[in-house]
Amino acid sequence: MPVQVVVGAQWGDEAKGKVVDYLARSADIVARYAGGNNAGHTICVGDQVFKFHTVPCGILREHITPVIADGVVLDIRSLIGEMNTLESQGIDTTRLRIGKAAHLNLPYHLLMDEMEETRRGAAKLGTTKRGIGPTYADKAARVGLRFGDLLEPSRFRARLQRALDYKNVLLGHVYQASPLHLDAILDEYLLYGERLKPLAVHAPNLLSEARQAGKTILMEGAQGTLLDLDYGTYPYVTSSHPIAAGACLGTGLGPRHLDEIWGVAKAYSTRVGEGPFPSELTDERGDYIRERGKEYGTTTGRARRCGWLDLVALRYSAQVNSFTALAITLLDVLSGLDELFVCVAYRCHGEQVSVFDPDAFVLTECEAVYERLPGWKEEIDHCRRREDLPVNAQNYLQFIESFVDAPIRLISLGPEREQTIFS
Ligand code: IMP
Repeated sequence: MPVQVVVGAQWGDEAKGKVVDYLARSADIVARYAGGNNAGHTICVGDQVFKFHTVPCGILREHITPVIADGVVLDIRSLIGEMNTLESQGIDTTRLRIGKAAHLNLPYHLLMDEMEETRRGAAKLGTTKRGIGPTYADKAARVGLRFGDLLEPSRFRARLQRALDYKNVLLGHVYQASPLHLDAILDEYLLYGERLKPLAVHAPNLLSEARQAGKTILMEGAQGTLLDLDYGTYPYVTSSHPIAAGACLGTGLGPRHLDEIWGVAKAYSTRVGEGPFPSELTDERGDYIRERGKEYGTTTGRARRCGWLDLVALRYSAQVNSFTALAITLLDVLSGLDELFVCVAYRCHGEQVSVFDPDAFVLTECEAVYERLPGWKEEIDHCRRREDLPVNAQNYLQFIESFVDAPIRLISLGPEREQTIFS
């Protein structure tokens, strides 16, 4: 299929990286379309572990052209660090292509994200403090600087000066912080610009030409549907569009050109940061899932909140994204539990509802209504066909498929490439 999108179907951290890496076997281009270095993908190849934040993880396959498309926000300093680490691990990063319209996440964005979170106190959002929200806010306010600006030193200087004139007033008066100095930022960033200049592209044209030439393009999502700025649990969301429509916004490829839309969901649920989570487990079963699933953030190291699979939320995600297939990851984590619970409705103010309202204030008032399913005792990470799984695991998957009304075409049973069932 020429254009495939891989979307997080929950609150992020669904192991999309593993799915992208797997599907990239038969792709030509992997394009990241949204978010920034708030994302974290870990990929294991043999005994090597690769960590990604901004670089598309498709870069691990030598035949792939990895593209950071225009919907991504770029923390250039972090990107350079990530590229250096990948180079030291034997990955050629000169293949990388970066959209000139991608917005720059600059030092003042980071500071403001941190200081705003502190200022919010108990009402904090639990952001990754990577400057993501302030960067997208400047983009929408039309005062952002873009990667293309960085490649033109005099333009970059003028635009940065204008931005700092305003940001320094905010830093001093609202946050009582020291001002940032133009020359220090220029000296550092213009060097980065020089290094990255050969990688700059007009991403929509590159992708459109590749599609017309019959190349397979894999759009790599970051975060998850329930963190979408418009369709997630606002205000506890990120500031971009992780949903499938975001792949069009972020790459410039038109909606008619999306051929396959993969929704990636864990066999349970996790959430990092604040916000409602009706199927959250705060007992030893949550700890069991956290320890077996190594549910600690790749980007921030924070312990993730863990809970049962929320099928009402997953069905909403399928609706918003029009999934053509599901990938269920970390199914192996659930081995050893006598019984499993899946959320099939909510009880809100005494009434049972089966549709998902992402309004955080409504969702906070909702309690999960569960269906109880039998678990399985044995480890399953060695299974290579769906029919090799214990019958209760097969039934669990079937229950998901029929509730969500989408076929499960990929099952991940561990971090290794081979620990995958694909159909
Ligand atoms: P921000 O994207 O740093 O502004 O954070 C906003 C919310 O999205 C917070 O709850 C974060 O924990 C969450 N978030 C951002 N990126 C990720 C991710 O890659 N995985 C999971 N949660 C994320």
